[in-house]
Amino acid sequence: MHRILLLGGGGREHALASAIVNSPSCDQLFVAPGNAGTAAIARNVSISNTDFPAIDQFCKDQSIRQIIVGPELPLVEGIYDYFKESDIRVLGPSKKASQLEGSKDFANAFMAKYNIPTAASRSFTADQESEGLAYIKEHSLPIVLKADGLAAGKGVLIIDDHIAASTAFSEMLHGKFGKASETVVIEKFLSGIEFSVFILTDGKDYVLLPEAKDYKRIGEGDTGLNTGGMGSISPVPFFDDVLRQKVLDQIIEPTLTGIQQEGLDYKGFIFFGLILVDNEPYVIEYNCRMGDPETESVFPRIESDFLSLVDSVYNGTLDQQNIRISQDYCTTVFLVSGGYPEAYKKGLPMQIPSLTSQNQFVFHAGTRSTDSGEILTNGGRVIACTSRGQSMEDALALCYDSAAKIDFTGKFYRRDIGFDLK
Ligand code: AMP
Ligand code: GLY
Repeated sequence: MHRILLLGGGGREHALASAIVNSPSCDQLFVAPGNAGTAAIARNVSISNTDFPAIDQFCKDQSIRQIIVGPELPLVEGIYDYFKESDIRVLGPSKKASQLEGSKDFANAFMAKYNIPTAASRSFTADQESEGLAYIKEHSLPIVLKADGLAAGKGVLIIDDHIAASTAFSEMLHGKFGKASETVVIEKFLSGIEFSVFILTDGKDYVLLPEAKDYKRIGEGDTGLNTGGMGSISPVPFFDDVLRQKVLDQIIEPTLTGIQQEGLDYKGFIFFGLILVDNEPYVIEYNCRMGDPETESVFPRIESDFLSLVDSVYNGTLDQQNIRISQDYCTTVFLVSGGYPEAYKKGLPMQIPSLTSQNQFVFHAGTRSTDSGEILTNGGRVIACTSRGQSMEDALALCYDSAAKIDFTGKFYRRDIGFDLK
């Protein structure tokens, strides 16, 4: 029986927590810091995700032997390595392997070495600024500039003008994103439809999880500012057998070959952010964790016992796992707070009525409960309304039913999730 600590506090973690507590081998689940949703199914604890000694002490006090990591920061800061010599298992890659997400320069060099299709790119540091500016001058438009390191989802700029790109490039090298942009990657722009593919791996074998598509922009028709994600859909209708095989052969298999040849310690999720250009898949980015809001649509489709999959990562039996995936569609519509992704209010009282269909799920993200049991908003992305249905339209209809019934002042959501797939 497992006593587990899950790190994170968003919709992704509420969806993961639901899968964990539904496993017959879950004895007790703790979530740090969690939200009002995880509080209802597990025990929330207020420990920082990157305070490894405090996490260690808590695990010892509570006889916890398994940590599951939601967000990237603890991974990139080395939580796997911290616990490597202990009897506490961490689901997630080592600090070095997390560089696949934590350094775009590292990821691009890895993809070049293992022949994994991605955009042509070059990296520059401040002492190579003039070479970088000359490179921009000759570059086709638009130009993609990326901070090498983690920049809270803001480190990618797509600029349609050479002069503006040069200015932005110099600003990045001189501190725009702090240490994250001490190295800047200049990349060719790829035009196509994006989708996300996920695996759970022990670094050698893997299981393919359901794929998904997310909707990042605040506005309908994919317009306006980027957000942490306004909705998601799984399966992706154009991810047919031919495309799946291409992704397996050209992207997933060579990535695992590279992981082994580089001697990277990788026990966890890989999230392949892909783009389809002329029917060929290219990698836009690697992430060393599950996506949010993709997890909310992906995990309810997994019928296999999640903790049994996790056990397989450690005992070398992943290749024997025959993961069962529901054929149903799952869709997610995010309710966000008015003003998000710019300034918004927190602490707004919420009404969450019980929903009529068992195919409607409510995954909390930015919420918290008060001592008196009231639920308040506690972030910009507040609630993921996820639903299951036999078609995308059926699932979305239930999402919009939830979205209309759950209420707080200033609630906003996109009414066109899936618009480009119909
Ligand atoms: P982020 O999730 O913040 O890394 O944002 C990355 C987003 O920038 C991707 O989802 C794409 O929409 C876009 N992007 C990144 N690299 C490229 C590229 N080479 N060509 C076109 N779009 C890109
Ligand atoms: N949905 C994109 C991400 O989790 O990074």
